Amino acid sequence: MKDKTEKAKERHIPAPSVESIRDLILEAKKKAYAETDHEPEPELTSAVEWPITCTVGPGLEGAIACESKVGYVNGSKGWLIYRGYDIFDLCAYSTFEETSYLLLHGRLPSQAELTEFTTSLRERMFIPQTQRLMLSFPVETMNPMSALRLGTNLMRQKQTYRDTDTEADLKVGEILATDDDSIPMETRPPGKKNPVFEFLTGLFKRVHPASEDALVGSDEIESCYNLIAGVASVAATIGRTRAGRIPLEPLPEYGLAGNYLYMVTGRRPTALEERIMDISLILHADHGMNASTFASMVVASTLSDIYLAIGAGISALSGPLHGGANVEVVKMLAEIGDPSNVKKWFRETTAAKKKVMGFGHRVYKAYDPRARILGPISALLTENDETRRKTYATAVALEDAVVSELGAKKIFPNVDFYSGIVYSAMGIPQELYTTIFAVSRVAGWCARVVEYLENNRIFRPRAMYTGTFDETYVPPSER
Ligand SMILES: CC(C)(COP(=O)(O)OP(=O)(O)OC[C@H]1O[C@@H](n2cnc3c(N)ncnc32)[C@H](O)[C@@H]1OP(=O)(O)O)[C@@H](O)C(=O)NCCC(=O)NCCS
Repeated sequence: MKDKTEKAKERHIPAPSVESIRDLILEAKKKAYAETDHEPEPELTSAVEWPITCTVGPGLEGAIACESKVGYVNGSKGWLIYRGYDIFDLCAYSTFEETSYLLLHGRLPSQAELTEFTTSLRERMFIPQTQRLMLSFPVETMNPMSALRLGTNLMRQKQTYRDTDTEADLKVGEILATDDDSIPMETRPPGKKNPVFEFLTGLFKRVHPASEDALVGSDEIESCYNLIAGVASVAATIGRTRAGRIPLEPLPEYGLAGNYLYMVTGRRPTALEERIMDISLILHADHGMNASTFASMVVASTLSDIYLAIGAGISALSGPLHGGANVEVVKMLAEIGDPSNVKKWFRETTAAKKKVMGFGHRVYKAYDPRARILGPISALLTENDETRRKTYATAVALEDAVVSELGAKKIFPNVDFYSGIVYSAMGIPQELYTTIFAVSRVAGWCARVVEYLENNRIFRPRAMYTGTFDETYVPPSER
C-alpha cells in the first residue's frame, strides 16, 4: 500500500510555466473560433450619421448613446475586442499595463513608452498619504466597495488641487491631513481592535515634490494614470486592513498585478501567480457600455472630474447585478461540495426555477471568451491542492450538467464562473473579489470617459411619463 506522502508525490504536477499558460490561451482561442464559425459576421461601421434610429428597451437596452473605438463585444460570435485586438491575443501576449495604455491611447506603446508607463504606474501605486487617511476610517468593517470609493475620493483629495486654489480656502479634506511619514507605521497596537486614528489639525502642507504630492493630476490623462495605479493600491489596502495588517508599499520588482498580489497578501507572488493575475486584469478591463462604464461616463459628461466619475463606476459595480456573481459561485460550489452531488443539486435548483450562478449573460449567447481563458487556468492553479481540486472538479461537473440541459438556450459559463476559483487559489479572500474587478475595469472606465469627453454632450435621456394630470392639491389636514 502506498502511504499518503507517496500518493501526494505522485499527484504533484510540476508548476506550469508562464509560457504554458500562453499555449493554453491560444488553444482556447482556436476552440472558441471553431465553435462560432457558423455565426454570421457582424456588420461593422466606421461612421455614424446622427441622429440615429434604434430600438430601445427598458433600462436603455439597445440604445446607442455614442460612438466608441475603445472596445467591442459580439455576443453571438463570443468576441471581446479592445481597440481592434482580440482578448485571447492580449491575454496570451500582453500585460495589464500595456493593455491599459492601448485602451487609453488607442495604440500599443513602443518598447520605450511601455517601460516608462509601467514604471510610472508603479510609482503612482505609492500612495502613503491616502493609505494613512484611509486608516482614519473604519475600513476594516466597511463594505469593501464602499471603502474603495472612499479611498478613491481620498486619493483625489491628495492628488488634485482643484478644490484648493487659495490657501485661505482650505476645506475639511485638507484639515483632516496626515503627516508626511511613509508607512509602515504602527496602526494597530497589540491588543487594540481598531487602528490608531490620526487627525492632525495642522494646515495642509503643499510639499513638492514629495510622495503623493508629486502626483498632482491636473490633466485628465495623468489623473487616469493615477487612478489605474491608485485603485490597485487602495484595493490592496482594504484587504490588508480587513486582515488586521499594516498596509504595504509597492515593490520595485513587480508590475501592477504582482504588486497588487503582494500588497494584499503580504507574500511575494510567484511569476506564475503574477502572470495569472495580470491575465485576469486584462480580461476584465473593458466590456462595452456596461452599467458601471455608463455611470462613469454620465458623471464625466457633466464636467465633474475623473476621480468622481470613477467613483460612480465603483458605486455601480458594487451592486449584485453587476460585480459580485463570482462570490456567489464560490459559495454555490462549496454548498454542492462534491462532483457526485452535482446532478441532484442541479435537478433541485432547476425544479425551484432558480438560476445557476456564473451561467448566462445578457450579451454573450456563445461561450464567454473570458470564461474560456479562466477555466483552464483554474484547472492549473487547483491541481496541487486536494480541496481546490475538488472544487474545480465540482465546477466542471456543473458546467457539463448546465450546458447539456441549457446549452440549447445558449446558456454557457460566464466570466464569473471560474474567476472566483482563480482568486481563491491565489489566497485572495472572497469579500475582495468585486474590488479586483474595479482594479481592472478602471482602465476601461478611464478610456471611455476620455474618449467621450473629446466630443462631450451631457447625457439626458427622457422618461415616458405615465402619471396623472389635473390633480387638485388638498392640504395635509384634509387628506
Ligand atoms: C446574467 C443574466 C442576468 C442574463 O440574463 P438575460 O440575458 O436577461 O437572460 P434571461 O434571464 O432572459 O434568460 C433566458 C433564459 O435562460 C434561462 N437562464 C438564464 N440564465 C440562467 C442561469 N444562470 N441558470 C439557469 N437558467 C438560466 C432563463 O431562466 C430563461 O429561461 P426561459 O426562457 O425558459 O424563461 C442571467 O443569465 C443570470 O441571472 N445569470 C446568473 C447570475 C450571473 O452569473 N451573473 C453574472 C453575469 S456576468
